Amino acid sequence: MDSAIYKQAADFIKDRLSGRVPVAGIVLGSGLGKVAERIEDPLIIPYREIPGFPLSTAVGHKGNFIIGTISGRTVVAMQGRFHYYEGYPMDLVTLPIRVMSLLGCSYLFVSNAAGTCNPDYHTGDLSIIKDHICLFPNPLIGPNRDEFGPRFPDMTCAYDLELQEKAMQIAAQMNVSLHKGVYLGSTGPTYETPAEVRFYRAIGADLLGMSTVPEVIVGRHCGMRVFGMSVITNECNFENLERNFNDGDDVVKQADKAADTMTELFYRLISQL
Ligand code: HPA
Repeated sequence: MDSAIYKQAADFIKDRLSGRVPVAGIVLGSGLGKVAERIEDPLIIPYREIPGFPLSTAVGHKGNFIIGTISGRTVVAMQGRFHYYEGYPMDLVTLPIRVMSLLGCSYLFVSNAAGTCNPDYHTGDLSIIKDHICLFPNPLIGPNRDEFGPRFPDMTCAYDLELQEKAMQIAAQMNVSLHKGVYLGSTGPTYETPAEVRFYRAIGADLLGMSTVPEVIVGRHCGMRVFGMSVITNECNFENLERNFNDGDDVVKQADKAADTMTELFYRLISQL
């Protein structure tokens, strides 16, 4: 993708911000759009109006940038993200993150609906993402975009430790328990076979999903501090004992239940930036 596209998209949005500079970008995953309802004085910009943006098609996803304030801090939220399984090239999947960076965001908050392969985690639980395993093609493959970051970005602390600590404190105040899990991102769109679930568990994954990792890699490349959270929507099948249907509607329904808690947690965390 031509680098000019990033600047064109960012300039288009900047023109409508009257000089406000967002501190955080927020990616709202499946059914987790409620965070958007907490954004004050929202300015809604449909992706289709932004130069270079594709349309989002997945179940439960809208396609808007929502810009406004949370406790006086200007934020940009993505209502609906672009998934690799939809056929978008990685440059488009991660385009909004680079645009957020160009707008001035120094923090990136990501959320998703995930399955779990950890028998101690259950449907409806929330988990901080403490690390990830990338089974996608790396979104930084290709000539390095030096204007955003280095050729070989470090990933030892992809998920900001201070934000994790703050989130744990907020959760304790809210009387909510949080897991701290490793998110394995794979392309989808198929859900995992039982053998894959056993494999992913064996290599250290707790959370399984089809998003987030490309955005986090690009966010880190841009130098953003990242916080990630998963709502667990299903427990993955380790054996072929039963047919374990995962369909898009179920995932959205489960995500909705935990969304209120996650919304409050994100709200309080952003209020402390
Ligand atoms: N696997 C992969 N992605 C998912 C799942 C799952 O079980 N649930 C929600 N997103």
